[in-house]
Amino acid sequence: MSAPTVVAIDGAAGSGKSTLARLLARELDLPYVNTGLMYRALTRAALDLDVALAELTRGLRVRLTEGAHPELEVEGYRPEDLHTGEVDAAVSRASRHPKVRELMRRAQRALGADGAVMEGRDIGTVVYPDAPVKLFLSANPLERVARRSGERGGSNVAEELRARDERDARVNPLEPAPDAIAIDTTGATPEATLEAALQIVRSRR
Ligand code: C5P
Repeated sequence: MSAPTVVAIDGAAGSGKSTLARLLARELDLPYVNTGLMYRALTRAALDLDVALAELTRGLRVRLTEGAHPELEVEGYRPEDLHTGEVDAAVSRASRHPKVRELMRRAQRALGADGAVMEGRDIGTVVYPDAPVKLFLSANPLERVARRSGERGGSNVAEELRARDERDARVNPLEPAPDAIAIDTTGATPEATLEAALQIVRSRR
């Protein structure tokens, strides 16, 4: 008995593969398998997921808490639910979608309408390019890793941070606004950094 026949047909787009393959399959009485459909189906599903993600973004209810020190509350989640390794590893996949970013930025502008201290990655450049005070914080990588290890633990913090920075920067380069004031927090206590920031805010008023 001879081995089952597979006729492999490869070629660039438009080279006539599909036409030939279907006809040949009928002639030889073999199944016609167009593997391009598998990749296209995956792509279609991913595109549909983009639409679903935008819908989810629209449904995300954000508000400021009442009281003396209002803070952002994203309905349905406690902050500790959102600061996990699992979310860290996946967040760049959600935040890279242009439609998601557009909707988030609109919501962020609304949250700041009566004034706010707003932290992020694109606040001074895109969300509030007219903000009167823009600070751009940095710290050396070792110190960032040490701080994050203190918050989260885990053995691979350095690599996880590096990978997330890289994924985020692919879509949304982390750059200071031209009029941002840089503060390097390496080796600085929170109080010292606060004092530096307050001086800048006061000088702008
Ligand atoms: O600041 P934090 O590390 O909590 O941000 C989590 C993630 O949210 C970032 O890694 C990035 O993917 C996304 N992000 C963003 N734009 C912002 C703030 C956060 O894309 N303004």
